Amino acid sequence: MSASSSTSVLAPVIAIDGPSASGKGTVAQLVAEKLGFHYLDSGALYRIVALAAQQQQVNWSEAEALGTLAKTLDIRFKDGEIYLNDALITELVRTEEIGRGASEVAVHVPVRAALLDLQHSFRKPPGLVGDGRDIGSVVFTDAKLKIFLTASVEIRAERRYKQLKNKGLNADYDKILTDLQQRDLRDSARSASPLIQTPDALLLDTTQRDIQQAVDFVLTAYKKLS
Ligand code: DC
Repeated sequence: MSASSSTSVLAPVIAIDGPSASGKGTVAQLVAEKLGFHYLDSGALYRIVALAAQQQQVNWSEAEALGTLAKTLDIRFKDGEIYLNDALITELVRTEEIGRGASEVAVHVPVRAALLDLQHSFRKPPGLVGDGRDIGSVVFTDAKLKIFLTASVEIRAERRYKQLKNKGLNADYDKILTDLQQRDLRDSARSASPLIQTPDALLLDTTQRDIQQAVDFVLTAYKKLS
């Protein structure tokens, strides 16, 4: 194969990174829908590792064992549902407990390394919208557009509180706030792929913006690059 024929053009990536409960997942999905792009919820992968570890009684602090486990997972995303070894786990990975576990397993280098190739495999034509903590800073450093989507921790806690209440679930605002603060700290202060706004990422603060305004911001920024 000649050098020129081996350099195929990679599908464009829009990377949306940001802290927990910032709304980045919803924004990323809507942008992907609008553009007809694929969607990668990278946080779900860390949640799946936390859940699988819990099921197999592997502690969330055991870096090497978690890395081995992450390499062997049979994960499938289909029609908005998540399957692990053919079992439906969509709701199981969405709990606050597994969210905390995801943030704990995500500090380990072997876990992050195991999930890297899997994340790269989502990059397919006509394009990909990925959200997480390090999509633009580590996983797809050549992303065409990088967005750092955030909001004040109080407004994120309020939105999460209302979400839980609307589902008829128990919710305690102060606990949610403390939990988000701890998760922000763990995700930003870790040495492996911390949550950071890279210099080439556009800041999108949704404290005073609704979802539609955030989606329009991303689509407008993307159109400007095309
Ligand atoms: O986006 P989320 O709440 O589903 O993510 C859960 C945890 O997974 C988050 O607290 C940190 C980790 N995570 C990560 O370290 N890197 C990513 N790209 C996505 C999520």
